[in-house]
Amino acid sequence: MIWRGIIERYKDYLPVSPKTPVVTLNEGNTPLIFSETLSQRLDVLVYLKYEGLNPTGSFKDRGMTMAISKAREEGAKAVICASTGNTSASAAAYAAKAGLKCVVLIPNGAIALGKLGQALIHNAQVLALDGNFDEALSMVKQISSQYPVKLVNSLNPYRIEGQKTGAFEICDQLGKKAPEFHAIPVGNAGNITAYWKGYKEYFGKKEVASKPVMLGFQAEGAAPIVNKKIVPEPKTIATAINIGNPASWKAAEAARDESGGVIDSVTDGEILSAYELLAKKDGVFVEPASAASVAGILKLSGQDYFKNKKGATIVCVLTGHGLKDPDRALQTVREPQRVPAKLEAIWEAIKL
Ligand code: F0G
Repeated sequence: MIWRGIIERYKDYLPVSPKTPVVTLNEGNTPLIFSETLSQRLDVLVYLKYEGLNPTGSFKDRGMTMAISKAREEGAKAVICASTGNTSASAAAYAAKAGLKCVVLIPNGAIALGKLGQALIHNAQVLALDGNFDEALSMVKQISSQYPVKLVNSLNPYRIEGQKTGAFEICDQLGKKAPEFHAIPVGNAGNITAYWKGYKEYFGKKEVASKPVMLGFQAEGAAPIVNKKIVPEPKTIATAINIGNPASWKAAEAARDESGGVIDSVTDGEILSAYELLAKKDGVFVEPASAASVAGILKLSGQDYFKNKKGATIVCVLTGHGLKDPDRALQTVREPQRVPAKLEAIWEAIKL
């Protein structure tokens, strides 16, 4: 079967009709990679859902194909979003394909280099706000309610609809089986909401016989749900999830409580060790926010959370590609060693 994106594949589960002008970059169909390293360490079966392999390098494309297709169906001329980077990159690309004007509001100086480059090259109007993501989101909510410009943040219900297809795909890839545990980074909390909706729908339609326990992870310096209070000045190296007042706060709590799961926090140090571990042992390069899901299961495992769960399956969503944030990668490694153009010197440096 030729892959034509998530709307074509899962249209029976999505609010689309034959009249919907589908705007797609063939998103979805990302690999579910078995991690030998993590499975051995945790004594469970750990799979990595590598969403960084979507067309713009993050899971946002699943939601954006829906939001932009529906914006076109409704006759919108322009779309707007606030973003820590990935939503803006995705909105810019899909709006370019749809021929819509795209405006993005980003916290000035606080988004990763690759994401900024993407929004700009796709010709979005990029406005760098003197303020953080939460302030940017509040601004675009007000603007889209007063002016004829469509909001494509995850408050737009079509975004959640598109993103829930990640859950369908995982179940399909596991052979019509839901994992026992689903680990995911939490920022604005749209994605955990979407996955839980997807798992519930697949279960409701009897595609799978069970639902997973949802495990969400925030960065310690930006953990409003964990600490049950808004963080006015969130701070983490995982810029994608540097959010102090998530839009889908309540829905994330519902996903946690209905599934019997947890939302916990991980430190920047734990995020960076998981980031390096994934790159060095699994060959999977992600951006720091994505590593929060792996940092989280390592933390829980240290507390014996997975004791007596041998044979259980955990899926970690790796939300964004490592190339999004090249600065962080270069700050984490040693500089290349310079060598003269001489065979002996090169062999000497290799030191097998
Ligand atoms: N991982 C990455 C790479 C992200 O870009 C985001 C969110 C998340 C995790 C968290 O997902 O917000 O649904 O809980 N990025 C948004 C953005 C906020 O603007 O790109 P969430």
